[in-house]
Amino acid sequence: TERYCVFGHPVGHSRSPSIHSAFAAQHGATIDYTAIEAPLDDFAGAWQAFTNTGGVGANVTVPFKEEAFRLADTLSERAKRAGAVNTLSLTSAGTTQGDTTDGVGLVRDLEHHGVALKDSHVLILGAGGAVRGVLEPILATGPASVLIANRTAMKARALAADFQDMGSVEGGGFDTVSGAYDLVINGTSASLAGDLPPLPDSLFASNGTAYDMMYGAEPTVFLQWARERSARTLDGLGMLVEQAAESYYLWRGKHPDTRAVLEALRADVV
Ligand code: ATR
Repeated sequence: TERYCVFGHPVGHSRSPSIHSAFAAQHGATIDYTAIEAPLDDFAGAWQAFTNTGGVGANVTVPFKEEAFRLADTLSERAKRAGAVNTLSLTSAGTTQGDTTDGVGLVRDLEHHGVALKDSHVLILGAGGAVRGVLEPILATGPASVLIANRTAMKARALAADFQDMGSVEGGGFDTVSGAYDLVINGTSASLAGDLPPLPDSLFASNGTAYDMMYGAEPTVFLQWARERSARTLDGLGMLVEQAAESYYLWRGKHPDTRAVLEALRADVV
């Protein structure tokens, strides 16, 4: 039985063990996938201890994605661009490969929900690690424009500058937000505090979609606000399942059926 885990701090409420076990069960396999709370001051030691005891792969969540990036011996191109790693793999040579599946997870979830990115006008709220992690796959779909708006305008401008070569992307403060967007992605951690960035009422184009990278038992304040303005709303649970599926594929070479697992998660049966 292959050993995998998710590292986080805290990590007790992680859905990743049930998601990955459900993926394995789809083709009659069993994996040993646990949640491990790594110490804040020794992430590298936790990965070392895990591989010493037979671990072959790990997902990495808050707050260790940048440390995992620094720890990896080799990095995928998309991880280099993201500056973060959410998937570690032990290679047959005993080295550690780092990759990130968050961005592809977000884009696949949008595709599965029929949200077109190509030629669309996209607004992204936030300019932290979570947003940096998804920019490349979003820009690769060919949106007409992407505006990154952040409380700290300078961070949004710097982030946009880093991705200039990939398409039409600009950054600014929330005061630069104007016009109607086909898709608004909330990548701020404001939801956690129940906060909402200051946004104009006329934010959404007709048939516009609001996507929150966060999820919870109840819709986030951002999604509630968007629903009141007639936008279609999607939470980040689908992204969670899709990023997990891509990690699973990296480790085990099989593409799980994500729809079945997402439905089970929503029904709270896995
Ligand atoms: P993460 O890994 O979740 O991206 P981060 O790198 O700390 O974490 O980034 C958090 C993001 O949420 C930032 O864009 C932050 O805005 P600032 O750059 O101005 O700090 C944003 N954020 C956090 N709390 C917020 C709030 N109450 N209102 C608006 N934006 C908020």
